[in-house]
Amino acid sequence: MQPKCIAIASAKGGTGKSTLAANLAVQAVKDRAQVSFLDWEPQGSLTLWWTLRGKPDNPMLERDIDDPVETVDQLKQDGVDWVFIDTPPDGVDELERAIEAADLVLIPVRAGLFDAHAVELTVTLCKDRRVPFVFVLNAVNPKRGALNASAIRHLEKKGKVLSAQINDRASYVTALNKGLSAAEHPDGKQAKPAKAELDALWKAVKLAVKRGRS
Ligand SMILES: Nc1ncnc2c1ncn2[C@@H]1O[C@H](COP(=O)(O)OP(=O)(O)OP(=O)(O)O)[C@@H](O)[C@H]1O
Ligand SMILES: [Mg+2]
Repeated sequence: MQPKCIAIASAKGGTGKSTLAANLAVQAVKDRAQVSFLDWEPQGSLTLWWTLRGKPDNPMLERDIDDPVETVDQLKQDGVDWVFIDTPPDGVDELERAIEAADLVLIPVRAGLFDAHAVELTVTLCKDRRVPFVFVLNAVNPKRGALNASAIRHLEKKGKVLSAQINDRASYVTALNKGLSAAEHPDGKQAKPAKAELDALWKAVKLAVKRGRS
C-alpha cells in the first residue's frame, strides 16, 4: 500500500477534528498499519490523548513540527502507512500547509447554518491545492432529521458528503478522556454503536482516498 495522509480540517472550532483524528488513527492501527499523527493544533489535544493512552509507538505522535509537508514526506519515506494531521480552527497558513501535505482532507461538520457556511475557506484551499476533500457530519442528533437533511443538501452543493455519519454520543467524550477510542470504550454497550459507525467511517474514508488517487 502507498502511504497516505489524511488531514482533518475545518476553519471552525469544535467540529470534532481532534475527536475524529484520534478515533480514526485507532481504526487504522486495527488494520495492522503503522500510523503516525501530527498534532498541528496549538491546544495539543492529540498530545494529551496520546499521553493518556500511554505514549504508544502505534499510533505514534509527531510533535514539534515546523512544517507538515516536510514531516509527512519524511514519515512516508520511513515506511509509515497512514498519517493523520489534526489541524487548528484558525490560522490560514497552518491550514494551507496541512492541506498541502494531505492526500485527502476530511472536513467534519455539525448540522447547522453557521457550520455549513464555515466550510467555505477549507473547501477553497482544497480546490486551490487540488487536494480531494469529503465532508462528514459529526455529532449528529438522529432525531433532528430535517436539520440533518438540510445540512447535507447544503454541503452536497460544495462536495461529497460521506453517507457514514458520527452521532452525538457521550462515548466520544468519555473514551477520549481515558486515551481510548469510542470503539474501545470499557462499557460494551457504549462501545458497540460507536464501533459500528467508526468502522463505516473508516471504510468510507479509505474508499475516498482510493478514489482521490485515480
Ligand atoms: N460525535 C461526538 N459526540 C459527542 N461529543 C463530541 C463528538 N465529537 C466531538 N465531541 C465533543 O465536542 C467538543 C469539540 O470536539 P473536538 O475538540 O474534537 O473539536 P475540534 O474541531 O478539534 O475543536 P478545535 O477547533 O477547538 O480544535 C469536545 O468536547 C468533544 O468531546
Ligand atoms: Mg481540535
